[in-house]
Amino acid sequence: SHSINLAVIPGDGIGQEVVAQGLKILAAVLPQDVKLETEEYDFGAKRYHATGETLTDADLDSLKKHDAILLGAIGDPSVPSGVLERGFLLKLRFAFDHHVNLRPSKLLPGVATPLAGQPEIDFVVVREGTEGPYTGNGGTIRKGTEHEVATEVSVNTAFGVERVVRDAFARAQSRPRKKLTLVHKNNVLTFAGHLWTNIFNKVAAEFPEVTTDYLHVDAATIFLVTDPARFDVIVTDNLFGDIITDLAAAVSGGIGVAASGNINPSGEFPSMFEPVHGSAPDIAGQGKADPTATVLSVALLLRHLGYEAEAARVEEAVAADLTERGDSVRTTDEIGDALAARVAS
Ligand code: IPM
Ligand code: MN
Repeated sequence: SHSINLAVIPGDGIGQEVVAQGLKILAAVLPQDVKLETEEYDFGAKRYHATGETLTDADLDSLKKHDAILLGAIGDPSVPSGVLERGFLLKLRFAFDHHVNLRPSKLLPGVATPLAGQPEIDFVVVREGTEGPYTGNGGTIRKGTEHEVATEVSVNTAFGVERVVRDAFARAQSRPRKKLTLVHKNNVLTFAGHLWTNIFNKVAAEFPEVTTDYLHVDAATIFLVTDPARFDVIVTDNLFGDIITDLAAAVSGGIGVAASGNINPSGEFPSMFEPVHGSAPDIAGQGKADPTATVLSVALLLRHLGYEAEAARVEEAVAADLTERGDSVRTTDEIGDALAARVAS
């Protein structure tokens, strides 16, 4: 296709600043004959305060028309916890069936890690995105009493597990090391854990070239710190994936460089690309935010839309920029300009 029709959701806090840089790089890397059309949406704390709305059915209808969505960050301390998370972000992931939540971790040269000896880190977590305890399937009884009981049921369907496991196997198959690790807790979560394990083993038979491994999630957190090189592709459920991808980001350069894609592989709905970090209200508006995670999310967006060469150029530009960056302190804009110059040349 020779046009990209992009929905842009800058959102709150530093979301505005980093998305501006992401768009700058996108415009710079695309070939002249590719028409980039963008439509900006005002979701987030401001709109919520003004209208009480987070994401309406009409909004979803409008977003649906785009090829992809670029999101900065949504969230503000002035909004009660959970309102925008459930009412916007999770609502969107569920409505657009973003069942593959893709979170690559690659330690680039020149990037600081708290780990000893600069280990090889190059893996990708395929986090399930539409099930688990995120479904809001729970309740409270005897609320506010000493005998309050709260449940938060983790929903795992054979359909939902199989499609994400299959996606992870295909990704592992396409990578040089061809290794896939299932992360769960099947020694305790024997219902969901066995469903995941059985489906994982069944699908494995169709991918004989892929080496498989299994780790309980607690053990996985140890290896992510002591031996991250053992990981190539990880597949896991929504909540475990949420937790281990923050840890993965922490060991591979921090949240400033962690990118993600909320992917609907069939293309029935637009996929959404966003930095893993939040809106960082403490540094918002100061031009201090690192736009790198957003720029790497733009690379994932380009790859998803079939612009592989352009995606690779963005990633190479980021790698070169990080290598040369050293201890220099640059503004959000300066980093964006440097990356735009690199991808354009
Ligand atoms: C993430 C975030 C979200 C999640 C929150 C904000 C709902 O932590 O994208 O990792 O838990 O998925
Ligand atoms: Mn998270």
